[in-house]
Amino acid sequence: MKYVIGIDLGTSAVKIMLVNQLGEVIEEVSKPYPLIQEKAGYSEQNPDDWVEQTIEGLSELIKKFKGNPEAIEGLSFSGQMHGLILMDENNNVLRNAILWNDTRTSEECAEIHEKVGKERLVEITKNLALEGFTLPKLLWVKNHEQNVIEKAKVFLLPKDYVRYRLTGQLHMEYSDAAGTLLLNVSEKAWSIEICDKLGINPTICPPLVESHEYVGNITEEVANATGLSTTVKVFAGGADNACGAIGAGILEDGKTLASIGTSGVVLSYETTDSKEFGGKVHYFNHAAKDVFYTMGVTLAAGYSLSWFKDTFAKDISFEGLLADIDTVPIGSEGLIFTPYIVGERTPHVDAAIRGSFIGMDASHERKHFTRAVLEGITLSLNESVEIFRQNGKKIDTVISIGGGAKNESWLQMQADIFNANIVKLRSEQGPGMGAAMLAAYGCSWFQSLSECADEFLITEKTYKPIPKHVQRYKELFKIYKEVYMQTNGLNAELMQFRS
Ligand code: XUL
Repeated sequence: MKYVIGIDLGTSAVKIMLVNQLGEVIEEVSKPYPLIQEKAGYSEQNPDDWVEQTIEGLSELIKKFKGNPEAIEGLSFSGQMHGLILMDENNNVLRNAILWNDTRTSEECAEIHEKVGKERLVEITKNLALEGFTLPKLLWVKNHEQNVIEKAKVFLLPKDYVRYRLTGQLHMEYSDAAGTLLLNVSEKAWSIEICDKLGINPTICPPLVESHEYVGNITEEVANATGLSTTVKVFAGGADNACGAIGAGILEDGKTLASIGTSGVVLSYETTDSKEFGGKVHYFNHAAKDVFYTMGVTLAAGYSLSWFKDTFAKDISFEGLLADIDTVPIGSEGLIFTPYIVGERTPHVDAAIRGSFIGMDASHERKHFTRAVLEGITLSLNESVEIFRQNGKKIDTVISIGGGAKNESWLQMQADIFNANIVKLRSEQGPGMGAAMLAAYGCSWFQSLSECADEFLITEKTYKPIPKHVQRYKELFKIYKEVYMQTNGLNAELMQFRS
């Protein structure tokens, strides 16, 4: 039997899995690292932490593995998107990485729209400037840290940096490059025009490769530290959302994904780059060659639930917290939660908006709040589903992954709110499996990623929408959407009280 490794470099931890030729996960390791949040809206990480924990994790994985490490043929990555790593001429990191969920860059987004022009920006990159994307971060460093930008010779994204440290080779691949806002998505080339208009030296952009492309072998030093063989081939990998899509089999038209992790995503496969969403949803290169995906993002999906638990129910488990939500009716007895606790992206690009509980009643118990949080997260994702449908997409089947796929009641809630069949996979492994599949395809185990998905992915259960519930949620959705309209002005005013 042969094996590949999928490394998922997430925001809270790196998850590493060893997968065999049947798609079975043989061993798994997760190693955490901290967030650095110096100010409200700031979110950074130390790239060395990623590397140390990845090497530590690989070494633990190999120790646990009963087989022969020489049978591990390939390795690939999935990574948190958009994070900016700047390196000097000796490839030393110049500052902490500024992450996807850092929102300090509102002024830089306005600068990009002004200097490039919104329409032109969407023509080239297919996206609008959002605080989370890489280009605004690069401009922020240019505007605020002159000494850093002067020394910067190249920028990378998180998983690219880890891959560089494992192989000594510098690359970026298209699915992650699309999230920088510097890539001409159709031409698959860096946009010199955008660089010129913003005074960025284009040589800062690294060489581009395909996601399944072989980029080198692990170095002898890493082989010694981990127990892996230097024959392990390294393949470029993909953005976490693209890899999540591959790991859920979103590899043909008509397939949609709902992924509820820290952030929440509704993602749809696109064969062409010619659809017009006007920047309302993200439009990126897929990690499968020459195809695309569109995606709406709820910034705090699973994060809203973990924030709620950590703040109000620290002493019980998630299972305990969710145990009695089915005893609460749809609409949580008149309580609505909006998950804007770190601002929002889809459908409202708004870094200042914050969350609300609307309709609190003296009879409400913790279980009402818990259900309202789950409903709020799912209603927020439904705003993305609605945009896709309004643009003519048929969404009747959604593959659900992440935390949202771990609870039966939440899966049924997704079916009722999205008014679509919700598919739960038997062994859902998220983006790490997509990374392993890129390695398996790169190693030529399969003729295509779809062939790999047919072998690796099995449906466990399908949840069907219940018409009575669908109707009730339609009524709730109308009220939910009003909450943003009624609270955005108030939240803008409240900004002055935030530190
Ligand atoms: C996507 C995004 C998040 C991160 C999470 O645009 O910012 O989904 O990729 O890792």
